[in-house]
Amino acid sequence: MPILLGIPGALRAGSTNRLLLAQARLSFGEARQDEADLRLPLYDGDLEEAEGIPAGVQRLVDQIAAADAVVIACPEYNKAPPGVVKNALDWVSRVKGNPWKDKPVAIVSAAGGRGGGDRSQFALRLMLTPFRPRLLTGPEVLVADSSNAFDEAGRLKDARYQKALDDLMGQLRQEAERP
Ligand SMILES: Cc1cc2nc3c(=O)[nH]c(=O)nc-3n(C[C@H](O)[C@H](O)[C@H](O)COP(=O)(O)O)c2cc1C
Repeated sequence: MPILLGIPGALRAGSTNRLLLAQARLSFGEARQDEADLRLPLYDGDLEEAEGIPAGVQRLVDQIAAADAVVIACPEYNKAPPGVVKNALDWVSRVKGNPWKDKPVAIVSAAGGRGGGDRSQFALRLMLTPFRPRLLTGPEVLVADSSNAFDEAGRLKDARYQKALDDLMGQLRQEAERP
């Protein structure tokens, strides 16, 4: 059974990206589910020198390393990924070894605007490039007007979004199961 790590890029409990992540898990199919917590201290070289790698960062690194596939649900803040996402990437890069290397990774986004977080998603792709994951290129899952995009059960209302999500997560599963 593959291990799927979900990384919610928004911290708030009612996050639409968390809803999207839950739907992505369903589309991926049966898996051992794991979830990351990006509530990490801000990267600070002095903190690192004094105390080493924070426990939460090491846990995240271990989760990425153990996962067969990773899906990141990333909001858009001012046309870019939220600071918590970049902060997490920076911390993870400080740990010996690179847990992202060759890891199958899919990005999805839900955002209030019409673009569904397209610029954020594009920027996140660039941010991940140095770590050389197996980053899926499409179909792009960009859920626009996200506060109105889910029904009361947390399902996507628009069948086109659901179709794109199913396709993307199907590909992620194939990558995860590739020998
Ligand atoms: C600081 C901030 C900046 C935002 N900038 C954008 C933006 O550039 N584009 C956009 O579509 N939505 C933007 N939004 C709206 C978010 O997409 C919306 O709040 C979304 O629901 C956030 O994701 P979440 O539901 O997972 O928390 C912004 C929200 C915040 C708090």
